[in-house]
Amino acid sequence: MIESSDFRSKKLVLNHGGGRMPALGFGTLIPDSATTISATRDALEAGYRHFDCAERYRNEREVGEALRIGLAAGGIAREDIFVTTKLWNSNHRRERVEPAFEASLERLGLDYLDLYLIHTPFAFQSGDEQDPRDANGDVIYDKGVTLLDTWRAMEDLVDRGRCRAIGLSDIGLNDLRPLYESARIKPAAVQVEAHPYLPETELLEFCKEREIVFLAFAPLGHGIRPGPLEDPVISRIAARTGKTPAQVLLAWAIQRGGALLTTPKTATRARENFEISALPADAFDEINQIETRQRYNEVVKTGSPGFIPRRTQ
Ligand SMILES: NC(=O)c1ccc[n+]([C@@H]2O[C@H](COP(=O)([O-])OP(=O)(O)OC[C@H]3O[C@@H](n4cnc5c(N)ncnc54)[C@H](OP(=O)(O)O)[C@@H]3O)[C@@H](O)[C@H]2O)c1
Repeated sequence: MIESSDFRSKKLVLNHGGGRMPALGFGTLIPDSATTISATRDALEAGYRHFDCAERYRNEREVGEALRIGLAAGGIAREDIFVTTKLWNSNHRRERVEPAFEASLERLGLDYLDLYLIHTPFAFQSGDEQDPRDANGDVIYDKGVTLLDTWRAMEDLVDRGRCRAIGLSDIGLNDLRPLYESARIKPAAVQVEAHPYLPETELLEFCKEREIVFLAFAPLGHGIRPGPLEDPVISRIAARTGKTPAQVLLAWAIQRGGALLTTPKTATRARENFEISALPADAFDEINQIETRQRYNEVVKTGSPGFIPRRTQ
């Protein structure tokens, strides 16, 4: 099969009949409401059809509003967009999964989800407090629920047709392998931090072999500088190919067989980050040779979210 070099319309098939995910996704981890709405509308207008949300981002209502207005304005059908949201750590108990899912749907103003992810493999104390802490300020974990318990409740949602596919986020191979083996409905997607400084190659290969979509977040290193956006290899390839450094990094993420989430906050950047096509083979190989290693988000270690602080100018 000849693959198109134009990544704007590339879609990846999800297992278990879960439809197709546009490889280029827009992420909604945006702290303020007004920017959430404007950036989501700009993304829709630029051509993004894949939107990544989370109850933890506390802006599902704003994303839903922007999508509703944007779909109507652009004559775009619900079926033409792909929407994901995520179950937060304090809702891992089996009886809390469906209510959390329904609450997300209600905030988003949707009647089904394309993909529902367990946000992290860490169960926090069950309840409405998203960040439960003890007197010492340490996270209170919930030892009474396993990842597989939560996964079973996610499978029920697929059985009932409430969401088309389910998956995991912020997970490493040590947790993914046993879950994959025990799952009745196999994970359709795994969302993790990935960029040339954190290629997660072993996890990528595991996913490819099992037809799990490898979905990269922070493909630009979250815009943190110094970082991949300023890497000399990336800058040289950008100059040589007439692309911007962001376009080079995003193309690499898709060219290696994955999907990505990026968060442009202006219309200009939304268009820039959407104009993505394949890199020449030598440029792709050169990026694979980059040896710098850096993780920008520690959520995978504890379940507590947060990027490393940006350098103050
Ligand atoms: N599962 C998880 O735990 C998890 C964790 C983090 C993120 N995510 C998801 O992944 C999404 C994407 O992550 P991310 O926001 O880190 O992605 P990213 O695209 O790597 O980083 C976004 C930042 O890069 C900068 N940027 C964007 N386009 C640019 C361009 N063309 N040139 C230069 N800089 C540019 C922007 O910085 P400025 O702010 O300066 O504009 C923006 O805030 C999130 O929105 C969220 O949906 C998931």
